[in-house]
Amino acid sequence: MHFHILTLFPEMVLNGLGTSITGRAMANNLLSVEAVNIRDYANNKHNRVDDYPYGGGAGMLMQAEPVYGAYRSVEDSIQERTGKEGRTRVVYLSPQGGTFSQSMAEEFAKEEDLILLCGHYEGIDERVLEEIVTDYVSIGDYVLTGGELPAMVIVDAVSRLIPGVLHNDTSAEFESFQDNLLEYPHYTRPEIWHDKQVPPILLSGHHANVEKWRREQSILRTWQRRPDLLDKAELTEKEKKNLQN
Ligand code: ADE
Repeated sequence: MHFHILTLFPEMVLNGLGTSITGRAMANNLLSVEAVNIRDYANNKHNRVDDYPYGGGAGMLMQAEPVYGAYRSVEDSIQERTGKEGRTRVVYLSPQGGTFSQSMAEEFAKEEDLILLCGHYEGIDERVLEEIVTDYVSIGDYVLTGGELPAMVIVDAVSRLIPGVLHNDTSAEFESFQDNLLEYPHYTRPEIWHDKQVPPILLSGHHANVEKWRREQSILRTWQRRPDLLDKAELTEKEKKNLQN
């Protein structure tokens, strides 16, 4: 999969995503991350990309033309590579978007190319957003200084769904949110740490009992920490009854 990030701070996303699992996936050609500097498409000799808002008010806005120029160059090279006519999805990171979720990550993972547009200052001229953006996405109800961290969050969450990115292909399947249950607790060596013992069932070697315990722990955790998820979780009649007791 190919991610194209339109940003004023290419080094921020490349340094971040070039590290750890996404970095390894890039080295293994399972994904690519291209950071396009919007400033390279400034249409003045000072390379300015911001200006004052019409109507007054605080702060500066990113101008339409450099954003459009950066988008156009990416879209043109995608069309050249794929030979396809259709438009690439363009995600604008903004607190005004719908909240990013695992199901959105799964949807984005189906795309061959994804363009992520990072805003700065007070935002971007509305006219270019109207013209190029297909999805408005927020990563939560708080305001950040720019769209780079949200774009990195999306690339990370989508990347780990691409086959081969995680070493263990099953580990993306059985985990939080897959079935609207939180994960069970995990333990590794030593068996006793700070006087705390690993739950004995995990040392029993009895696979079916371990699975049963983990399922119970998942349900219990979800009930304790994210009860809002339980409505959407698929529980057996017996599990529902147990929760009521
Ligand atoms: N840009 C600034 N804040 C943001 C947020 N919470 N989500 C996505 N993009 C943003």
